[in-house]
Formats: sequence, C-alpha cells, structure tokens
Amino acid sequence: MSQTLTLRRPDDMHLHLRDGAMLEAVLPESARHFGRAIVMPNLVPPVVTGAEAAAYRARILAALPEGMAFEPLMTLYLTEATDPKDVAAAAASGLVRAVKLYPAGATTNSQSGVRDFDKVRGVLETMAEIGLPLCVHGEVTDPAVDIFDREAVFIDRVLDPVRRATPGLRVVMEHITTAEGVAYARSGGADLGATITTHHLVINRNHILVGGIKPHYYCLPVAKREIHRLALREAATSGEARFFLGTDSAPHADPLKENACGCAGCFTATNTLSILAHVFEEDGALDRLEAFTSLNGAAFYGLDPNPGRITLTKGAAVAYPAKIDTGAGPVTVFDPGVPLHWNVGG
Ligand code: DOR
Ligand code: ZN
Repeated sequence: MSQTLTLRRPDDMHLHLRDGAMLEAVLPESARHFGRAIVMPNLVPPVVTGAEAAAYRARILAALPEGMAFEPLMTLYLTEATDPKDVAAAAASGLVRAVKLYPAGATTNSQSGVRDFDKVRGVLETMAEIGLPLCVHGEVTDPAVDIFDREAVFIDRVLDPVRRATPGLRVVMEHITTAEGVAYARSGGADLGATITTHHLVINRNHILVGGIKPHYYCLPVAKREIHRLALREAATSGEARFFLGTDSAPHADPLKENACGCAGCFTATNTLSILAHVFEEDGALDRLEAFTSLNGAAFYGLDPNPGRITLTKGAAVAYPAKIDTGAGPVTVFDPGVPLHWNVGG
C-alpha cells in the first residue's frame, strides 16, 4: 500500500517572484503547491511604497494562469526614506503584510537598504504600534567580518539592539543558517519567528565548494558548516511555532549564476515539497511537516491556515525538470542530490 500524507495547503513565507517574463515562468511553480506567499520586494527598482506594492500585486495576479489560485502577501522594501504613514496606510488596507529590512549591500538588489538604523527608527516604532512584522535579512556587511560569521555577528550588533530599542516589534529572522540563529529565535517570545529554507536543510558549505565550485548551491546567507545544517534540521522538524517555511526560492537565469561573479539564489519552488517530505521522513518527523509548511507561518502572520489540502504520495521517483524555461533564460531547479519519492498531488 502506498504511503500518503495530507496537509493543509502550504504557504511560502519568503519567496522571490521577480517581474515580467521571469514572474510569468516561476509563478506557476509556486502556485501549483502553495496557497499564499510572502513576496519579497527586491525588484529593480525596489517595491518601497504602498502604491508600488499594489501595482506589483496586480502584475502578479495578472501573471497567474487561469484556474490557479494563489494569494500574494505583499511586503515593502525598507529604505532610510520610507514614510511611516505610508507603511501604516498600506498595512491598514490589508495590502501589505510585512516590511523587509535589507542591510545595504547584503544581497541581491539591496543597495537601497538600510545603512543607518537610527534613520528607520520612526518606521519601526510605527510597525511595533500596529503589529506589522519586520522581515530581516540578518547579515552584517562589514568587510572585516568573515562571510560565514555575518549572521551571528548581525544578531549581536544589530538585531538584538534593534529589538531592545523597539519593544513590541514583531520580527521574522529570515532564512536562518546557523545554530546561533536557531538559539536566538528560541530566546524570543511570540513576537519572534524565523523562516528556514528548503536548501539550507539539505546542503552545507562543502556542497558549494568541494569537487569544483557549484554556482547553483550559492545563495545568501551562504550555507554554513554541517553542525549548522543539523541545527536547522532540528529546528524545522521540532514543530515549534516560531519556525516556519520560507523557501527563499530565488530564480536567476543560468548565465547569471554560471558566471565569474555569479548571483546568489537557489530556485527551489518546483521541488520544495518533495524535498521537505524527504527531509522530515529521514528525521522521523513527517507528523510535524504540516506545522512547518502550513500552520506556523500562517499563525505568525495572523492568518487562518489555507482551507484546501494537498496530498503527498510516496512512490516512484518524482519527475521534475532539471531546468525550467523562462522568457528571461533557463533557470536550474535545485538538485537535492538524492532521488525524491514524495509526489505532490492536488
Ligand atoms: O540567495 C539569495 N537570493 N539571497 C537573498 O537574500 C536574495 C536572493 C535573490 O533575490 O536573488
Ligand atoms: Zn530572499
């Protein structure tokens, strides 16, 4: 008899959908399995104002194929010029669900991000008052700090001081990659959550660098040592409400990754759920997969779980493309390095 697993339809609480031809190609890859996603605002130019978020939301919905249901949960890109009143109005209307903090220079299209945290104090105070979450890319950009230490240093130098200075601010530590990130997330109350990506549960830094450089395993924050991957696995499979899925699925056309200066990002939308079922089964935690993919994130954002369900069935190897074609070039699908056997049905 085949093994099946029925889950509430999942949510992806950290997703890059891009725009134009890339959006058209990648959106169905997420909408096939996910009911909603927190959509990242690091377009060029970034999505800074409520009006820009409304326009981007309309472009996403226009790109959604007939017959697919998917709700984009919009975010604003925090700049030093962000107007607290605009943020409050965009949140009050239900359009915007969070604000994303990129330290300037930390990652793809983060140039307009924050350099001086004093300049965003007013916005953060408004957000604390209205309960709007701040999604944080948690890496310092100080060139003196080793790239593998940037998350842990950010927690001490930036995140903890900002949280202490802004009581009540709800924070999501995005794509945590370290044992220190897991421990800090656990030190908080209901006002602190953390997303974990699919790929950081699967790869460590050896996967990127041993036997030749593997650009499709390069993302930011970069994968760390094996002990950190194991800490992330323990957190994700714990069922604890503070940990939830944010894939950080981040498409870049292959020529931009297979490049002397390759872009950061793993594209996991296509096979994320099959990979997660594999990971949770390996760790004896299939009964906690639904909490991670479909319940904890919704609860953090004050949403009901999706009404629909998906069924995963264990059987023949899952067939998925090595690349998807997009009008902006081919995009390589994340390779978990093992055959997957959990097929996702409707
Ligand atoms: O790997 C990443 N890719 N990390 C990020 O923070 C940004 C993302 C992207 O937009 O490509
Ligand atoms: Zn991201």
